[in-house]
Amino acid sequence: MTSAAEIFAAHVSRPLSAPVEANVFAPSNIALSKYWGKRDKALNLPLNSSLSISLGQWGTETRIAPADVDSLVFNAELMAKDAPAAAKVWTFVDLFCGDNRPALAIETTNSIPTAAGLASSASGFAALTAALDAAFQTDLPKATLSMLARFGSGSATRSFWHGFVRWDAGQADDGTDSYAYPIDAALPDFRIAIVAVDTGPKAQSSTDGMTHTVATSPLYAPWPARAEADCAAIEAAVWAGDFATLGQLAEDNALAMHATMMAARPAVTYLKPQSWAVLDTLWAARRDGLQAFATMDAGANVKLIFEDPSTADVQSLFPDAQIINPFEAPPAGSV
Ligand code: DP6
Repeated sequence: MTSAAEIFAAHVSRPLSAPVEANVFAPSNIALSKYWGKRDKALNLPLNSSLSISLGQWGTETRIAPADVDSLVFNAELMAKDAPAAAKVWTFVDLFCGDNRPALAIETTNSIPTAAGLASSASGFAALTAALDAAFQTDLPKATLSMLARFGSGSATRSFWHGFVRWDAGQADDGTDSYAYPIDAALPDFRIAIVAVDTGPKAQSSTDGMTHTVATSPLYAPWPARAEADCAAIEAAVWAGDFATLGQLAEDNALAMHATMMAARPAVTYLKPQSWAVLDTLWAARRDGLQAFATMDAGANVKLIFEDPSTADVQSLFPDAQIINPFEAPPAGSV
């Protein structure tokens, strides 16, 4: 069986050159057709493909510079090397660099307002992978960066492009065909609203939540085929510029994912009463003609998708929601 270290060694040619300073931005992303379930934990391979929209200027900026000792500063705070989030970063850096790597100063900053309660592992590992590539001048193709970022977090595969992105589950045992690519169809009116419900840390990581769901949920079995079909249908709707079909499919897909979790034993429940209250308000407005749809991930917050002409209506229903235009110009230094 191939190991993570072997995959990195096969793609990142070594010895590495001496690092130079590098600064990279990667956008966060929200899945419209979800990744939920792994077919291989060690290689972090998904059981199904997924499709996302990147969040424009919301993401992570990572700077890497040569240093005398390792340091990791996250949102202006120096992180202990063994803090769980920092340990994940250093493990990834070691995988990328192999043995005898030079010391590095890593500084990473999220442009995502903390109040939005969005996870940052997708943009974080994409920015880290791209910054390592730039710092060591390895000049890897984006598809390879996406494939390697998967070892940090699955959703990071999709954060190397703006707009709509698809991550193919792939079939190879070593996962070298499991990476993302852009769907180059722009829907310039596409908007996202983040309705924050709970901005604290999640009760259960997505890694644990999906592993437990696959292992115990009697409703999981039909999920991978359903998710593949949803991915294909959403991609077709993106190409057709058919927002209504896309939105309804995305909402159905998210609720189906949460249904697999709720049937797990014991149940995995990320949604809170307030999440359901947001959905009730949305569904009532939709019955009155508003074309907006919801999607939820491994947390209680609700993300709405709609088109620009509905912005004022969405804003008046959810005055505190943060509205994102995914097609605005990306920040300097973006992937
Ligand atoms: C519900 O990418 O965070 O957001 O690969 O274990 O790091 P790991 O999981 P992660 O899972 C994301 C799950 C999701 C759906 C999605 O983004 O596709």
